[in-house]
Amino acid sequence: MLRSVVLSTGAYLPARVMTNAEFEKTLDTSDDWIEGRTGITQRHIAARDELTSDLATKAGKQAIESAGVPADSIDLVILATTTPDETMPATAVKIQQQLGITRGAAFDLNAACSGFVYAMAVANNFIISGQVKRALVIGAETYSRILDWNDRGTCILFGDGAAALLLERQEQKGTNDDRGVLFAGIHSDGQYASLLGTQGGVSSTRTAGTVFMAGKEIFRHAVARMPDAVEEAMSATGLPLSAIDWLAPHQANQRILDGVAQKLHISPDKVISTVAGHANTSAASIPLALHVASHDGRLKRGQLVACPALGAGLTWGCTVVRW
Ligand code: COA
Repeated sequence: MLRSVVLSTGAYLPARVMTNAEFEKTLDTSDDWIEGRTGITQRHIAARDELTSDLATKAGKQAIESAGVPADSIDLVILATTTPDETMPATAVKIQQQLGITRGAAFDLNAACSGFVYAMAVANNFIISGQVKRALVIGAETYSRILDWNDRGTCILFGDGAAALLLERQEQKGTNDDRGVLFAGIHSDGQYASLLGTQGGVSSTRTAGTVFMAGKEIFRHAVARMPDAVEEAMSATGLPLSAIDWLAPHQANQRILDGVAQKLHISPDKVISTVAGHANTSAASIPLALHVASHDGRLKRGQLVACPALGAGLTWGCTVVRW
């Protein structure tokens, strides 16, 4: 059976770190409030001349170098992002060029904070159908560019960053012991589109718009739908929830991570959390968490990791990978 096996990861965070205390100067908020309600202590912010493609290229380059494969052997580049450099061409094409890839295909995918699980589902389908051998899945965002810096309910939540997974088609036995993607489920329901999005956009206002969110409602959907997505994914594999070695959810808020783990009866020490240091980096948050955990030695080859996400749309889903 063909599987999409993770060969390597890469990540990049902009040098500039912005602490919660910096918001105290301009907004009626406090470090205590932000950390207490979200678990976030700081976020990285891209420099003026640093674009989503720059972050993504650095993450992708690290993944390619770490796998030790020629860049030109990559058949497919999928960039999950809500913050492309320009409206066109797709930012993925710039990344492809900057990585020295002259063949195959590259495109952007927008599923907001679920972008990574959507991109994994798409890449996995190309790989297991035999059409693609190597795919680079990147989540990269510069949310700092679409935030309303006067809205304390949203601007404190997000950060910039990028991370990449290099996937390779490998023949495996076809059991749950196989390495690679065991399930990649995605969902959406547009009736909730008004809960989270941008005020404005290319076709509606000729601008990129700024983020708005009904925080409480999104919170409720997140703690309900992410556990459901994990249960659906695990039941599709036939494995029990207890087979999960690590839960690496979309990193939006520590209280959401805690709520998801609690619903699934997964102990907090099995949850990979980077929300304190990165804040919510949207489509980049799960691959960043996977990169951190695989590099610090927690996430080991052969272990099972479940990655649920929820984002604007609403979109949601879960990727289950044997590392
Ligand atoms: N500093 C201080 N006070 C703030 C604040 C801030 N940064 N942001 C909001 N508040 C205030 C609100 O105005 C409200 O005041 P009020 O009671 O006088 O109206 C009070 O804090 C409580 O706000 P509420 O929205 O009920 O807080 P909360 O506990 O729901 O936390 C979020 C707010 C945004 C942290 C939380 O709703 C959340 O995390 N939502 C999901 C966010 C998310 O993950 N989005 C992305 C998903 S992809």
